[in-house]
Amino acid sequence: MERTAQQPGDEQARLWNGPAGNAWVDAQTTLDHLFRPLEKLLVEAACASSPPTGRVLDVGCGTGGTTLAIARALSPGADCTGIDISEPMIAAAQGRAVREGAAARFVCADAQTHAFEPASFDSIVSRLGVMFFDDPVRAFSNLRRAAKDGAALHFIAWRGAAENPFMTTAERAAAPLLPDLPPRQPNAPGQFGFADRHRVEAILEKSGWRGIDIRPVDLPCTLPEKDLVGYLSRLGPVGLALRQVDERTRERVIGTVRAAFEPFVHGDEVRLVAACWMVAAHAPGRNRND
Ligand SMILES: C[S@@+](CC[C@H](N)C(=O)[O-])C[C@H]1O[C@@H](n2cnc3c(N)ncnc32)[C@H](O)[C@@H]1O
Repeated sequence: MERTAQQPGDEQARLWNGPAGNAWVDAQTTLDHLFRPLEKLLVEAACASSPPTGRVLDVGCGTGGTTLAIARALSPGADCTGIDISEPMIAAAQGRAVREGAAARFVCADAQTHAFEPASFDSIVSRLGVMFFDDPVRAFSNLRRAAKDGAALHFIAWRGAAENPFMTTAERAAAPLLPDLPPRQPNAPGQFGFADRHRVEAILEKSGWRGIDIRPVDLPCTLPEKDLVGYLSRLGPVGLALRQVDERTRERVIGTVRAAFEPFVHGDEVRLVAACWMVAAHAPGRNRND
């Protein structure tokens, strides 16, 4: 695993190297199951835009599910790299790659500032990993420099909270019991930071990407019902807040929140629709009319 220093005081680096990152590592199997339809779209996009032995970068790769799926889908000569700011998540990704004997490597660094080899990637992808930058133009300009002329960018980001009720059920239900839950700030780094498609388009335009195409996709996702309590008690703002409360409050919150998820439960399966943007763009250059 390569590592570069993180900015001290960076809130996202702190979260992803602490409670949020650890929760994602613990829930890796559940989350990979939940987000498999998103992974499938990105594997198809990467395979269509990279030669079989090309170089693919997965940004905010987390525990590596998408990076490894792309490595499996491309030929053994392909070179897939995942970058993430979270040491525990990159360590988990690295462990998976070793166990699978996969042609993938992982870098623990901030994608906004990491000194990528210039013009080295054929395809850059991200599953829900690019909404956390505090300077998104700097980040996407850095990724643009890492892309070969004409290289493709594909990422999936959440649309708004109102279109994704599953994702905010826990905090709405828990609010009376956890009055200090932080409110979601529009356009701030975080899960819904790219909800505004015009903002995303402006960021990519300013960062030098061309052919920008932003489409809504509604992806049916599932998780086993037996994993629901683990999911709601570890992840998101409620999962983070539950780390600070006494056992009695914790039990009351989990009971209340679990009941609020009932409309999503169908027998032994939890079903939701992930309302996302599928964003595509390319680096200007060879064989492109830019
Ligand atoms: C919602 S998780 C998605 C993880 C993974 N793509 C997946 O779908 O399982 C967001 C990821 O972005 C990473 N991240 C946040 N800011 C980052 C940055 N500046 N550079 C690299 N990764 C970052 C986090 O550490 C986290 O792993």
